[in-house]
Amino acid sequence: MTTRYRVEYALKTHRRDQLIEWIKGLLAVPFVLHSQPTAVFEPRSESVDQMAGITQRRYAEIMRDVEEIVNDHIAHQLAGTHDRSKLKLLVPSVATFFTPLALHDAFIWQDQRRFISWRRFVPPSFNDVRLILNTSQIMSLVRNGPLDLVTFDGDVTLYDDGKSLTPDNAVIPRILRLMRNGSRIGIVTAAGYSEARRYYERLYGLLDAIHASDLPAASKQNLIVMGGESNYCFKFTGDSPDLLKLVPRNDWLLPEMMLWQESDITELLDLAEASLRDTIKNLRMEASIVRKDRAVGIIPQPTHRFCRETLEETVLITQKILDMSPVSHRLPFCAFNGGNDVFVDIGDKSWGVLACQRFFGGIEGGKTLHVGDQFLSAGANDFKARLACTTAWIANPAETVQLLDEIAELDEMQQRKTR
Ligand code: IMP
Ligand code: MG
Repeated sequence: MTTRYRVEYALKTHRRDQLIEWIKGLLAVPFVLHSQPTAVFEPRSESVDQMAGITQRRYAEIMRDVEEIVNDHIAHQLAGTHDRSKLKLLVPSVATFFTPLALHDAFIWQDQRRFISWRRFVPPSFNDVRLILNTSQIMSLVRNGPLDLVTFDGDVTLYDDGKSLTPDNAVIPRILRLMRNGSRIGIVTAAGYSEARRYYERLYGLLDAIHASDLPAASKQNLIVMGGESNYCFKFTGDSPDLLKLVPRNDWLLPEMMLWQESDITELLDLAEASLRDTIKNLRMEASIVRKDRAVGIIPQPTHRFCRETLEETVLITQKILDMSPVSHRLPFCAFNGGNDVFVDIGDKSWGVLACQRFFGGIEGGKTLHVGDQFLSAGANDFKARLACTTAWIANPAETVQLLDEIAELDEMQQRKTR
């Protein structure tokens, strides 16, 4: 029987991040106890700054406590007993932490910018907590630097959905700054093409800027593009007109990826294609199928927009059918909602990031940051990167720019401290 509870559960668990929801719940208590909504019409109550001072202290204490609980989880990870940590009991979906999180300091940092403690009517929100977690992650990475590898998703992270990275994009000087400081860069995108030209067309603003920059030739090579999640690797090269050169698979595949069989790839994509065709028919979608050697997807007829529910339904059905097939136990895949399309790719971004780490000589997860917009647990493709490295969850390209500015500011503070 489908009870209301089961409906809510099936539809909502993949749309919630349990760690963020849990922290949000903890912060709701001081908000209820200390925010003073009546002060708006009772002029003799304490000033907003006094109220904020008290509330900030309470919020910050909670963030310090959560920081300790994360440290305890990390201690359990090291002892091989992560499934027995207190955090695992409280938030069963938490996985591996690659570094501690500077949650207390990150809260103060974001509070000074977002005035969370000053608010009387709006409690700490999902976005507040998401941004505090991002800051806490980069604080920890910068303090324990250097940040050896930064990988970026493409659509929605570096440029608007379906658009290209044009020369006026504010992210370009920030990525150049990272490269100048010695960080390697990986663009780990689902967009899957086997020709360099197609990536040049999407990324030319950045590629041309690197080419024209005064970076030493060796540093320019510190950028790679990993396309189709983990299927096509290109390295930067000033010699070719597209500034990118395909790296043969044998030169970069991880040993586990060498075991992926062509027959399994075909079987999985056939199954996914059949499921997508079925959904197009049942939901009367104005869509066409795109089949590639490592992916299959549906894209809309020109100018058509699918509604969110249809896209989600398509992903969840396809995911379920693939999960139940024996071939999905032999081969990783990623089914996701791309905003106005749905794709099933062979492999996923955890393999994409791991391959970048290996390409640059074996960089650790705790020295790698993946920046992306898709971190829901189903139908999202950046989520899997959490298996390989630390992550930052942004909502649009402007937030990526803000995050990179935060890294630069924290870097400078750190350098001043160590001088
Ligand atoms: P990302 O956000 O950079 O990971 O790019 C995802 C988008 O790339 C999808 O929404 C699609 O529009 C597009 N795309 C193009 N080719 C492929 C493919 O082979 N697999 C998945 N996505 C693709
Ligand atoms: Mg994206």
